[in-house]
Amino acid sequence: MTDPAKTATLSFDGKSFELPMYSPTAGPDVVDIRKLYADAGVFTYDPGFTSTASCDSTITYIDGGEGVLLHRGYPIDQLASKSHYLEVCYLLLYGELPTAAQLEDFETRVTRHTMIHEQMHNFFRGFRRDAHPMATMVGVVGAMSAFYHDSTDINDPWQREVASIRLIAKMPTIAAMAYKYSIGQPFNYPRNDLDYAANFLHMCFAVPAEKYEVNPILSRAMDRIFILHADHEQNASTSTVRLASSSGANPFACIAAGIACLWGPAHGGANQACLEMLKEIGSVDRIPEYIERAKDKNDPFRLMGFGHRVYKNFDPRAKVMKQSADEVLDLLGVDNNPLLQVAKELERIALQDEYFADKKLFPNVDFYSGIILEAMGFPTSMFTPIFALSRTVGWISQWKEMIGDPQMKIGRPRQLYLGETQRDYVNVEDR
Ligand code: CMC
Repeated sequence: MTDPAKTATLSFDGKSFELPMYSPTAGPDVVDIRKLYADAGVFTYDPGFTSTASCDSTITYIDGGEGVLLHRGYPIDQLASKSHYLEVCYLLLYGELPTAAQLEDFETRVTRHTMIHEQMHNFFRGFRRDAHPMATMVGVVGAMSAFYHDSTDINDPWQREVASIRLIAKMPTIAAMAYKYSIGQPFNYPRNDLDYAANFLHMCFAVPAEKYEVNPILSRAMDRIFILHADHEQNASTSTVRLASSSGANPFACIAAGIACLWGPAHGGANQACLEMLKEIGSVDRIPEYIERAKDKNDPFRLMGFGHRVYKNFDPRAKVMKQSADEVLDLLGVDNNPLLQVAKELERIALQDEYFADKKLFPNVDFYSGIILEAMGFPTSMFTPIFALSRTVGWISQWKEMIGDPQMKIGRPRQLYLGETQRDYVNVEDR
């Protein structure tokens, strides 16, 4: 980090403390409070980390007010329209767009690692058939540390690199196997003659009894979904990965922790929750009832797939995803699907509604990705696993950055304690 650009003054109880401030390359200045407790004896209080930078990073930049998302400086819409997922993975991991030779080498390394240890097939079979694929993924990805001992030493840069490639390469295989297992179909081995997205569609939808041709428009749409979910700076699951790894845990355990966090409906689980909500609404004429419920302070119901912690203008990923959704729906000719009609009408009504405009609530990336995935034939339970496989590269890039950071410390937040002060134990017969 550079020298502090300026200082902020904190005054209380007649004392003042100078706090260094740093200017980022983009975004608001930060006040450095690392020595605050040592110097002033106070903590800061920021549940939900709405004003706290937990690290410095050079990977992703978001300007929520302007609807900007940059990976290593490149705007997401340019990456989504001109690049492809594995190139974006390279960019996130290594900081620069690859040369043709670097890209070929990277793609070869990823495709050589797409199979999983054969014994892991038995591991899948230990799960109930009706297990949610996210439950299976948390377990199987965590179990990778039991299968790939030679890439768990986080202090060895070579092992870190191998673990990164393994996770990116195997995640589609694991997600597809979790799906196949849940519907009682045989697993498909990966096909390395297909690109990353087409191979995933093949592993999910091919059956041994029939020839399966991947539709290039669908594999392009799949690839875009992967790109649009690849990284999103210090969101809940990425912060979970960083926190887990700050204790020195191995990468497979840390990514399993990230998957667990992503599963929640306020985060990656929103795409499933959104489709379930559309199914619950069921028909266009019931939309006003649900809009009213979303506005009612006494009703916990929220319009899933609407709103974002950081984007308060529009979600730039949703813009690209909407285009993709239109292309896919057009190709598949599923415009008369009642669920998709509800989605379109809900989007139209919510965008015109004052409540949503005032609170800056608009459809987020999960609203449109759910629609595309539904049209492609994925069950709702696969939406979050697809988010998880796409986000793996972001988690790994942030994990690698953190391990390489000399300032890395174990994450250990403080608290505002509001419980009882010390009191004496009372024997049970006296209570
Ligand atoms: N429907 C109705 N009202 C909402 C919604 C919604 N989806 N989202 C926020 N609000 C209201 C909320 O009630 C609050 O109103 P008030 O100021 O009167 O109390 C106000 O808007 C601000 O909400 P908040 O909960 O303080 O905002 P937040 O930044 O903490 O939450 C969020 C962000 C994404 C968790 C929230 O908007 C939400 O729950 N959305 C639905 C779930 C969803 O789609 N999540 C996916 C996010 S994008 C993918 C990802 O990055 O994981």
